[in-house]
Amino acid sequence: MISKRLYSMVGPSLSKIKNKNLIKTQAFVNGKWINSSNGETFEVSDPALYPKKESQLATVQSMSEDDYKDAIQDAQKSFQTFKKTTGRERSTLLYNLYKLMHENKEDLAKLVVLENGKPYADALGEVVYAASFFQWFAEEAPRVASDLIPSANPGTQILAIRQPIGVCGILTPWNFPLAMITRKLGAAIAAGCTTVIKPASETPLAALAMAQLSEEAGFAPGVINILPSHESSKVGKLICEDPIIKKVSFTGSTKVGKILMDQSSSTLKKLSTELGGNAPFIVFEDSNLEKAVAGAIASKFRSSGQTCICANRIFVHESIYDEFTSEFVSKLEKDVKLGNGLDEGVTHGPLIHDRSMQKVREHIEDALNKGAKLLLGGDKRPDLGENFHDLTVLGDVTPEMLIFNEETFGPVAPIIKFSSEEEVVKLANDTPVGLAGYFYTQDYARLFRVAEALEVGMVGANTALISECALPFGGVKESGFGREGSKFGVEDYTIIKGVVVGGIE
Ligand code: SIN
Repeated sequence: MISKRLYSMVGPSLSKIKNKNLIKTQAFVNGKWINSSNGETFEVSDPALYPKKESQLATVQSMSEDDYKDAIQDAQKSFQTFKKTTGRERSTLLYNLYKLMHENKEDLAKLVVLENGKPYADALGEVVYAASFFQWFAEEAPRVASDLIPSANPGTQILAIRQPIGVCGILTPWNFPLAMITRKLGAAIAAGCTTVIKPASETPLAALAMAQLSEEAGFAPGVINILPSHESSKVGKLICEDPIIKKVSFTGSTKVGKILMDQSSSTLKKLSTELGGNAPFIVFEDSNLEKAVAGAIASKFRSSGQTCICANRIFVHESIYDEFTSEFVSKLEKDVKLGNGLDEGVTHGPLIHDRSMQKVREHIEDALNKGAKLLLGGDKRPDLGENFHDLTVLGDVTPEMLIFNEETFGPVAPIIKFSSEEEVVKLANDTPVGLAGYFYTQDYARLFRVAEALEVGMVGANTALISECALPFGGVKESGFGREGSKFGVEDYTIIKGVVVGGIE
């Protein structure tokens, strides 16, 4: 909900946060906490309690386009100094922030639970994952090196100098309120860039808490600017079209990624995008079944199915289909507890909002109408709250169904029977997107063959847990381009300048 108020408010749920300095509802720009210049605010609510009155977490400043333009100017000014810092200095700043995130991990995790809905253990895992990017890039910062290239001409050498690209725009989603920022921000800082960040309007609170920690970590004003806003499309356009911003990094849907790419063309801006997926999860007949079942559950239902790399289509060989589905369903029946992420023992939380719920319902109804079998769940759970849905398993899913072709981004596992490796690889690749893919096999020749054949940017072979700071994270086809994290992550934030030095006798 959008309103015009000149002040921000915090609801009673935020009393659970011990370090009160972390509760922020203003924007962090040029080292100062400021209100929106046009007085607009928006509400942030707890998806587990929505639409009850107690769901209201905070009224947050919605920064105007003029505020963004000012912040971009501030970031540009700050870049003139920050680009001259040494890698070692930037490493120390990143390491300070890494440590501060660990010192405040319980509070940060509670903020993530409150605004995103994921269970506390998962939120704590996200904080540690998010902080790991600062540690990783603290180690990379001193090693952003230039090259000396022997020239083809006598008496000449070529220097390939790696320089920070400039002010970077960072646009992030609600499903990982911290980690999707830190994976980009850590790399930008390591390279020597300054940043203007728009967190998702559903989840600005953890991002603003991190801005507070960045100040404590010693970052100079204007290096990290975080501006909440409910006007995502206007801000996206402004950031993509602004000539001062030299690079944009976006994580979100393929639909929005295409719009941003279009908008970035006016300034030929460097862009990296991590977009939607439709991950295949293949269980071959020679798999370790117990591990494959556990992996499929972990991958499919992480954050209640709301990650871009969640398994979206589970392919099971016909010879083990009955055994796999029965183990899969009985493990879910035994292990799952739906509920509020702050309650003891809860393993899965709500969906983020009603648009997600509508898609989940549409996919289930379409599949059942076209002949899928309901093996578990299948219903909304109003007894728990408006945004809760059963973890659901559908058998006998076929390529004609919507759920086979679109990312559900929700807790529905469609299981598809296959009979040969050739057939399943073809089916797995039969999608315009290619972010992650998974498979289980104990045949090592097959392992290399299938890993190469899958048209995705990331593969989990005999594992479902691929996310970590050392992985080059990103997709192929319409899942976007660019690699985040890993030793490749800094590259996107740098330019290479060739300097030809002649007269060397
Ligand atoms: C995503 O959902 O976009 C990212 C998931 C991850 O980093 O594990």
